Amino acid sequence: MRVLVLGTSGKTGRALTRALVRRGARVRALVRPGSPHEEVCRAAGADQVAGGDLESGAGLDVACAGVEAVYHLAPNVHPDEVGMARRVVEAASAAGITRFGFHSVLHPDDATMPHHVRKHLAEQVIREVMPTAVVLRPAAYLENLLPMVRAGELVVPYSLDVPFTNVALDDVAEVAARVLTEAGHAGGIYELVGPETLTTRHLAEQAGVPARQISIAEWDAGPGATLSDQTRADLVAMFASYDAAGFTGDSADLGRLLGRPPTRWSDLLRRR
Ligand SMILES: NC(=O)c1ccc[n+]([C@@H]2O[C@H](COP(=O)([O-])OP(=O)(O)OC[C@H]3O[C@@H](n4cnc5c(N)ncnc54)[C@H](OP(=O)(O)O)[C@@H]3O)[C@@H](O)[C@H]2O)c1
Repeated sequence: MRVLVLGTSGKTGRALTRALVRRGARVRALVRPGSPHEEVCRAAGADQVAGGDLESGAGLDVACAGVEAVYHLAPNVHPDEVGMARRVVEAASAAGITRFGFHSVLHPDDATMPHHVRKHLAEQVIREVMPTAVVLRPAAYLENLLPMVRAGELVVPYSLDVPFTNVALDDVAEVAARVLTEAGHAGGIYELVGPETLTTRHLAEQAGVPARQISIAEWDAGPGATLSDQTRADLVAMFASYDAAGFTGDSADLGRLLGRPPTRWSDLLRRR
C-alpha cells in the first residue's frame, strides 16, 4: 500500500513514516516547495516526495494521485487548521481515496483551549466530506519532555501537581500505521492515551531530575518570546487549562489497538 503522509518532516510524521515502512507500506512525503526537509523525510523511510502546501492547497491534487491512503498531520497550533483539513480531505476525496486518517487531539471539544476547538471543527469538516475517515485523538506526547530531561530539569508554566496521561509517540505512530493499513477501522474514533497518570513532579522524580514551575511572565521571556501572538495566546490558554485540571484520558483504546501493554515513562527513559 502507498500512503501519503502530510507533515512528514515533523516529529509525528517521521515516527509515522517509520511505523508504516515497518508494516511494509510505501510512503510518499508531502514537502513544502523550497523546504530544506526532503532528506529528513527520505531518512525516515519515504521513497517518494511530492511538493505541496497546506495553506494554499497547491500541489495536494497531484500529491494524492495514485496513493491508497492519506494521513493528515497539520502543523502544530496552526490558526488555519480547519481550512487545511478541508483542502486535504477534498483533494483526497477527488482522487477517489477512502482510507483517510486525521491526527486530532485528546478532548478536541474542550472549549477552554482554542486550538483544541479548531481540531474539533477540522474533525467535523473531514467526517462530512469523508465519513470513512479514521480520527486519532492522542494525549500530549511523553517525548515532549525529553529535551528538558536531557537539559537536567523539567520547567513548566503550570502546577507541578496536576495529573497527565501522556502517551509515547511511537505507540501513537504504530496505531496510526495499523488503522491505515488494516481493514475494519473505517469511521473509527480512537483516543490514544498513555497507561499511567503522573504529575510533572512524578515524571521528574522518575527521570531523576528536579521540577520547577515558572510564571507565564517568565515563560513569555523565555520559550514564548519568539512565538506569534496567536500561538502564544493558544499556548497560554492551554497552560491555564493544564493548571486547573491537568490533561488526562482513558488508555483502553491504545492497549487494545496495540495488542500489547503501552509504553510507560520508565520504558521510554530507559530506551532514550
Ligand atoms: N506534540 C504533541 O504532544 C501532540 C499531541 C497530540 C496531537 N498533536 C498534533 O500532532 C500534529 C503534528 O505535530 P508535530 O509536533 O509532529 O508537528 P511538527 O513537528 O511541528 O511538524 C509540522 C509539519 O508540518 C509541515 N508544515 C508546516 N506548514 C506547512 C504547510 N503550509 N504545508 C505543508 N506542510 C506544512 C512541516 O513541514 P516543513 O518541513 O516544511 O517545515 C512539518 O513537517 C499537530 O497537528 C498537533 O496538534 C501533537
